[in-house]
Amino acid sequence: MVKVLVAGGAGYIGSHVVKALLKNGYEVSVYDNLSTGREINLFSQAKFIKGDILDFEKLSDAMKGQDAVVHLAAKKAVGESMENPALYAQNNMIGSLNILNAMLKNNVRHIVFSSSAAVYGMPEYLPIDEKHPLKPINFYGYTKLDIERYMEWYAKLKDFHYMALRYFNAVGYDAEGSIRGREIGSQNLLPIIMDAATGRREKLCVFGTDYDTRDGTCVRDYIHVTDLAKAHVLAIEHLLKGGVSDSLNLGTGQGTTVKEIIAATEKVIGKKLKVEYVGRRSGDPAVLTASSAKAKEMLGWVPKYTNIEEIIRTTWALEQ
Ligand code: WQD
Repeated sequence: MVKVLVAGGAGYIGSHVVKALLKNGYEVSVYDNLSTGREINLFSQAKFIKGDILDFEKLSDAMKGQDAVVHLAAKKAVGESMENPALYAQNNMIGSLNILNAMLKNNVRHIVFSSSAAVYGMPEYLPIDEKHPLKPINFYGYTKLDIERYMEWYAKLKDFHYMALRYFNAVGYDAEGSIRGREIGSQNLLPIIMDAATGRREKLCVFGTDYDTRDGTCVRDYIHVTDLAKAHVLAIEHLLKGGVSDSLNLGTGQGTTVKEIIAATEKVIGKKLKVEYVGRRSGDPAVLTASSAKAKEMLGWVPKYTNIEEIIRTTWALEQ
């Protein structure tokens, strides 16, 4: 059996990746410090090692005998990365370098890396493809780009193979209900909407209504986490078959406005949300959509969830 170590495998996207790997017959070990990952999201069929990616010895030990790594252990709050860059340098950069170096030390040659649309910065054209200039406008995005560049160099210098997956806006939960631990403390739109819908938060603030979009609110490319997870399995298969190393966008190509998300949520939950329209949030582009043609071509990846209501239903299911 092919052995895969999933760093960050107890987290939101990580737990979905673990499920997809198990379903496809991989032997999975999860390496997670449970800082934001949740014990409830661990699968009994996967081995669990509680560890930090900053602990090189422990990480290197966990790496022994693995065939591939999926690395999703990172801090991901854009605002926090601007206020506390040292935390992001430590976790995302030093932590990721530890992973790459532990791989080299233990002869593990394949990695799928959780990257982000944040590597592009402000869109210069749409949809964004992988040829788009890489000019991150926040430190979080910079850390992701920096690790991509390290991987590019390691691949040039060593028997080392990578796939960087640049996620657009990850949303939704496993439709089969296997993952019960919702993400806590996320500052992203859908978790905040769920907080407002359940009363954990008083209201939802919509950032900006004067964008040049069909209803004045920002457009994003919301991609279901199960579709993201599938791409990781395909990327591992691609690398193990000797496929080339690269960076790929993962999105649906479809744009949805904040108001459309609110309307779809209200339909799914059967009640009105308390919404306040406030000013723009700095650094928000009006529209962000992906071209995932390259992922389709290289991996045969095609997202299955294209209906935003269905996506929201999988999220709302966790609140029941
Ligand atoms: C979505 C839309 C907000 C909260 C970020 C990162 C990106 C990637 C995904 C990880 C925007 C609006 C939000 C709220 C709102 N992360 N919004 N009220 O900013 O598109 O992307 O997460 O890799 O790199 O930048 O996601 O969920 O914060 O916002 O109106 O309370 O919802 O303005 O238009 P974003 P988001």
